[in-house]
Amino acid sequence: MKIFIDTAIIKEIEWAEERGLLDGITTNPSLLSRADRKLGEVINDILKLIKDRPVSIELVSQNVDEIIEEARTVSKLAKNVVVKVPMTDEGMMAVQYLEKKGIHTNVTLVFSAAQALLAAKSGATFISIFMGRLDDIKQSGIEVVRESVQIMRQYEFQSNILAASIRSVSHVEECALAGADVATIPFKVLVQMYRHDLTDKGIKKFLEDWEKVPK
Ligand code: G3P
Repeated sequence: MKIFIDTAIIKEIEWAEERGLLDGITTNPSLLSRADRKLGEVINDILKLIKDRPVSIELVSQNVDEIIEEARTVSKLAKNVVVKVPMTDEGMMAVQYLEKKGIHTNVTLVFSAAQALLAAKSGATFISIFMGRLDDIKQSGIEVVRESVQIMRQYEFQSNILAASIRSVSHVEECALAGADVATIPFKVLVQMYRHDLTDKGIKKFLEDWEKVPK
């Protein structure tokens, strides 16, 4: 499973990059607002840092022509830009057009296997399933990931299932087991993935016992 980081904060991207963890980046308007810097500067810095792996940038237009126009502008920023398009009727018409023109898309705000199927039929490169937000409304995010992965394999669609809205280490484990192609993980969860109480306790005990070894 590929690991993307779900952030627009440069320090977090650098942290993941230093550890050789990074297969790509996803951003969205909420993450960009949290970066608390001018849009152009943040995007520029991200694209300077990551030139050879996908960087998803969300579009804000709502109708086909405007989505296509905005996608053309945004995709000119760098060759690794992937445009994020929301799962709507107009969005999927734009995705079909853009993919034919060689502009890669990430269909976002996907909450059901039916939506994933439509995104795949539209030729999306990535399909972002929001696990956490489904769990928030007492539905199963992992179930939608599992169903969507099965549909992609069964019909040999080329789209990549991207597990998004990840809130915990268990979410990462579940989507890896479900066969998601990508998980986009927030910095906080990435850090937690290294940790286990028994690892900390084990290190402490080994160091204590090391002191007792006659040297
Ligand atoms: O990249 C989109 C997604 O990961 C957002 O997550 O936590 O706002 O539901 P969240």
